[in-house]
Amino acid sequence: MGKIVSSHSTSHILFSPQAAPDQAERIYQGMKELGELLVEKEPDVILMIASEHMFNIDLSIQPPFCIGVSDHYTPLGDLGIPQREFRGYREFAESLVGYTAEAGFDLAMAEGIAPDHGITLPLTFVKPWGKIPLVPLYVNINMTPSPTPSRCLALANTLKRAIEEARPEHERVAVIGSGGLSHWLNIPGAGEVSEQFDQKIIDLMVSGNGHQIAEMSTEEILEQGGNGGLEVMNWMMAAAMVPGTRGRKVFYEPMTAWLTGMGGVVMDV
Ligand SMILES: [Fe+2]
Repeated sequence: MGKIVSSHSTSHILFSPQAAPDQAERIYQGMKELGELLVEKEPDVILMIASEHMFNIDLSIQPPFCIGVSDHYTPLGDLGIPQREFRGYREFAESLVGYTAEAGFDLAMAEGIAPDHGITLPLTFVKPWGKIPLVPLYVNINMTPSPTPSRCLALANTLKRAIEEARPEHERVAVIGSGGLSHWLNIPGAGEVSEQFDQKIIDLMVSGNGHQIAEMSTEEILEQGGNGGLEVMNWMMAAAMVPGTRGRKVFYEPMTAWLTGMGGVVMDV
């Protein structure tokens, strides 16, 4: 059986530090720490649960859940992230697709993804670049209806079982939940940050109750955390895959200069 040896969640942008250099530095150092903690656990593969920002998954086709099955990826290059190839892991991805299909989930498989910052920004802090294979799992928060929080939780629970029951003995898996925290994109409220919402999410993660984020409805998250705040589904899933563990807040900044709450939590796996 495989083992989940690491789980952390993090926001996935970096903009110019000029408007708030102290906050930006704390965010950068927090992301750096999260990457280093992951590498210390010596995982064989990273499963990164993220959102896609309408570059690859757009209105032309809108799968609720989509997993990358390629053995190699070339980044899209947005946010100035270099287009350096990194490794995927087809066999791992396809085994998750097969296992979850038996459990009632139909993951769309993608061959031709050019991962955007949702994947590549957190990956930037996992050094050296591309050494550990990465499998992207996209949760579609752009479409309506997006997968419900309870559906996301059920998938996380199933993915955990897939790793523990269907993967080879000694395989070490790191999970990253990528996105959040509160932000409103291209809708009324744009530019606002809700410290109250962000703190609630962080508190649930730190107290070992990240799965309870799934008790919120999509509408409640939209109301309290904005449309971008729906990315906390990815945090919830990463926490749910390591039940019984508490977390530690590595950084949090209500980063109004970047129009979003920025946070990172590592689970004590
Ligand atoms: Fe995002």
